Amino acid sequence: MESGCIGMEYSLITETIKKHLLTKKECVDITEDTFLVTFNESIDFLTGQFVMVSVGSHGLTRKPFTIGKFGDNLAISVKIIGDGSRYIVETDTPLEVLGPLGNPFIPSSSNGVGIVAPSCIAEGIHLTEHFGIPLHVCSKTPLKRGFADAVSNDKIELHIGDDAYVQLLAKLKYEKHDWVFITGSKMMEKIGIKAFADVPGKVAYVSYNEYMGCGIGACKSCAVITKDGIKHVCSDGPIFRGDEICFQD
Ligand SMILES: Cc1cc2nc3c(=O)[nH]c(=O)nc-3n(C[C@H](O)[C@H](O)[C@H](O)COP(=O)(O)OP(=O)(O)OC[C@H]3O[C@@H](n4cnc5c(N)ncnc54)[C@H](O)[C@@H]3O)c2cc1C
Ligand code: FES
Repeated sequence: MESGCIGMEYSLITETIKKHLLTKKECVDITEDTFLVTFNESIDFLTGQFVMVSVGSHGLTRKPFTIGKFGDNLAISVKIIGDGSRYIVETDTPLEVLGPLGNPFIPSSSNGVGIVAPSCIAEGIHLTEHFGIPLHVCSKTPLKRGFADAVSNDKIELHIGDDAYVQLLAKLKYEKHDWVFITGSKMMEKIGIKAFADVPGKVAYVSYNEYMGCGIGACKSCAVITKDGIKHVCSDGPIFRGDEICFQD
């Protein structure tokens, strides 16, 4: 009986996951090492979902990237940290991606606020447009002038440097939001979760950018420890409530 239910869930998941070939429309500099890639094609996806991008001989596995929008175009933002991400930014060959993957972000209300690093800005812009919420882009280094001018508006605010991030968190503690969505580095997420832990009625969510092998729940390489035991970022996440997570260090 139980395995029948699991089988049904699995077939529902695999029905919506498809392979797509995406051709690049534009690749724009966000910072020195981070880029926004837009595509000519589109994929049906929900806020918070990600794709696994094939990098051919530039990595043993596909690489996970959260999907978002820039203007009317499907977009991912990519921080170059190794061969796979460099390939994604530099290649002119169409990218083969698998997705959409992961659970969408469905908060209890639309009264929230987003905080993203430049590497997650495509997801952040989609989040702010979808829920009509303010977005704070927090970067250690200044954004490229052209990009900063293109994204800044009455909903999107830029904060440069560690001190600016800490000041933003202190300010947001007193604003009346039901939730705060944070995605960027693990340190940024950890500091954010801690900042809101003692604020009654405000839930911090984080979208985890952990290591992944398969992206579909098969390899178990994306395990995280939560208060309810071990969970997997690709199949249980990638978004978790901050107060669920047990940090290791
Ligand atoms: C659900 C999800 C969504 C993501 N979304 C984005 C996104 O929108 N934008 C973005 O820039 N990145 C995102 N990432 C992270 C991105 O997938 C990795 O940066 C990428 O896979 C690195 O591949 P690479 O071949 O360039 O580096 P690799 O050659 O694989 O690694 C280079 C170095 O970085 C380390 N490393 C690799 N992956 C990670 C990681 N996930 N966390 C910490 N260190 C790592 C390696 O140990 C190694 O030292 C996401 C990850 C997940 C799981
Ligand atoms: S990446 Fe394989 S189980 Fe999550």
